[in-house]
Amino acid sequence: MEQVDLLILGAGAAGLFCAGSALRAGRRVMVLDHAAHPGEKIRISGGGRCNFTNLATAPDRFLSRNPRFAASALARFTAPDFVRLVDRAGIAWHEKAQGQLFCDGKATQITRMLLDRMKGAELRMETAPLSVRHDGMGFVVETPGGAIHTERLVVATGGKSIPKIGATGLAYDIAAQFGLRMIDTRAGLVPMTFAEQELALCRPLAGVSVEARIRHNGGQFRDALLFTHRGLSGPVILQISSFWQPGETLQIDLAPDYDVAAQLKAARSEAGRVAVSSALGRVLPARLATAICDEMGLSQARLADQPNTWLEALGARVNRWQVRPVGTEGYRTAEVTLGGIDTRDLDARTLQARKVPGLFFIGECVDVTGWLGGYNFQWAWASADAAGRAD
Ligand code: FDA
Repeated sequence: MEQVDLLILGAGAAGLFCAGSALRAGRRVMVLDHAAHPGEKIRISGGGRCNFTNLATAPDRFLSRNPRFAASALARFTAPDFVRLVDRAGIAWHEKAQGQLFCDGKATQITRMLLDRMKGAELRMETAPLSVRHDGMGFVVETPGGAIHTERLVVATGGKSIPKIGATGLAYDIAAQFGLRMIDTRAGLVPMTFAEQELALCRPLAGVSVEARIRHNGGQFRDALLFTHRGLSGPVILQISSFWQPGETLQIDLAPDYDVAAQLKAARSEAGRVAVSSALGRVLPARLATAICDEMGLSQARLADQPNTWLEALGARVNRWQVRPVGTEGYRTAEVTLGGIDTRDLDARTLQARKVPGLFFIGECVDVTGWLGGYNFQWAWASADAAGRAD
């Protein structure tokens, strides 16, 4: 039987990084993955440019049943630590809004860097683990090419999002097999779907973008909202999707810098002959202003003819738009999986299962899910480093 010190299942962000960290701890390391190529999600991340970390990383940027769990790993391997590796590898990068760091060039440079960092470890692609068991001394992983024995087993097979590029629930199955508890999973950072009433407004506006603010269940975001043929998308919608529960109504502020009712009343006293839609067009993109006025039967109306009650209703429609998503696009397009392995059963310093010495879970399979903006990769790096270096 082949023998290694540390076997990693999953050659994604967390698995590749863990291999490099474990090598530095002097271990014999092997990584297995069923896909043809390592780091497939890195390749498609950040629109192909990989938003590889966020300078504002802090535990409050993550959703988890235990919001403090991620703090230890995040404090010991930080965003600047990852940036140092990126700089050393000569990868050019830039900062977008809100501390988000992206490659100037292709995302695959990050995968290359991770592969270089783990030189000395063995990487076996197109190798699906068939079963895992504990033999009293360590773990035995059966593969089509034979059994591998390892003292330490690190599960880094990610969440359920994007099955088309290889996501499976293997980590959850292994956790269940060894008696770890689970927090129910659901799709996060995902476009939401809408009923015909909202779609009737959204479809003709497809391509229009507006800065919007949404507060919901403790999440509060201000970012671009994009109207699409399928409903609403854009960063602000992806962010809030992680906080939303089925059946809930969202309230969207389409003009967060303005009290629209007050603005319209002031405009009425200054230039009452102006069309309502033109006045609204000063605070919203013109197509959106026209669509909202059409919807409220104000397409031809002049500002001067509108009583306060109408302007207040229009203001509420813009500053407090109530929409009820019917669902989300699900794991097919979700950037992440919320929930996962219950952190109560993991040691926060090492990501080791409390009751199963030698078994570790890292990355997205754990119940730690970042906001949009590079936080999920930073969790992958930090949790991987914690497990790879664990004594
Ligand atoms: P990851 O999914 O990366 O890796 C899991 C590995 O396990 C894969 O290689 C898979 O093939 C393998 N595997 C799965 N099941 C297996 C099985 N049964 N047997 C063997 N191998 C198996 N985050 C961010 O911070 N910035 C960004 O820009 C983006 N952008 C982005 C875009 C898109 C389209 C998506 C889908 C996601 C993002 N993310 C992101 C999220 C980010 O990609 C994600 O959080 C990390 O890749 C998670 O790293 P893991 O290593 O945990 O899982």
